[in-house]
Amino acid sequence: MEDLIFETGEIATLTINRPKALNALNREVLEGIARILRDVRHDASVRILIVTGAGDRAFVAGADIAAMSEMSVVEGQEFMRLGHRVMQTFEDLPIPVIAAVNGFALGGGLELALACDLILASEKARFGQPEINLGIIPGFGGTQRLPHRIGQVRARELIMTGEMFDARTALEWGLVNHVVAAEALIPETRKLAEKIAGKSGFALRQAKAALRASFTMEEDAGLRFEQSTVAVVFGSADKTEGMKAFIEKRQPKWQHR
Ligand code: CAA
Repeated sequence: MEDLIFETGEIATLTINRPKALNALNREVLEGIARILRDVRHDASVRILIVTGAGDRAFVAGADIAAMSEMSVVEGQEFMRLGHRVMQTFEDLPIPVIAAVNGFALGGGLELALACDLILASEKARFGQPEINLGIIPGFGGTQRLPHRIGQVRARELIMTGEMFDARTALEWGLVNHVVAAEALIPETRKLAEKIAGKSGFALRQAKAALRASFTMEEDAGLRFEQSTVAVVFGSADKTEGMKAFIEKRQPKWQHR
């Protein structure tokens, strides 16, 4: 599919490639992403996924407004359900997912970044949930994930005013991990991905599952989930190797890549 570029490998990259429409998400693109994510989930050779947008203007400027303008209630509901399914699939991937935000991340674009584990932003990145200006509300999870990441106070104002904010503000609010020069975005994202790819894949999967519980479970249940998850990790060959390597003052050789 032309609108998506997928480069596989230990560090795989998915690029939304509709630069003329600022990489807006229509049904075909969302279905294509869903298919790619299904393959990634079953491909043990992929250890980290980077998601980005083509061109230098946008990560994703939202769901496709031209397509949505023609939708009935039922079609709109189906489209939003598809969007939710895709965002949830990103969140549920067992491997770390990094969003490399190179420009506008608006509406469904910010919601896509919010479904990723880490977000790196170029200095040119601009974020926002402008749906209110179209007479709608965020529909790919923004009303839930945005307050979870940046707090209710800021999320309520952003969703009610539709105003955009820049990369520095996103960093200050704890939405993004790092802000880098535009030309350094992909190299810096790969550098971070390589650092993470050097860890035990099994431990990373368990860490991601336990972190996810902080979003999906009450604190009490989440803490219990962490206790059983860390117990499972104690049974792994990588726990034995990691601790042995520390004691022997050498680098570990992970079995679970
Ligand atoms: N859907 C469809 N097309 C879009 C788009 C979108 N979300 N965003 C931009 N485009 C298209 C424009 O229509 C334009 O196409 P043409 O050249 O054919 O006219 C092209 O991309 C370039 O955009 P602009 O000419 O508008 O560029 P600009 O520099 O003047 O403005 C912008 C950039 C501020 C991002 C502006 O394009 C904009 O406001 N886009 C819409 C952002 C938005 O409202 N996103 C939320 C969508 S709703 C949503 O996502 C719902 C949800 O929660 C799932």
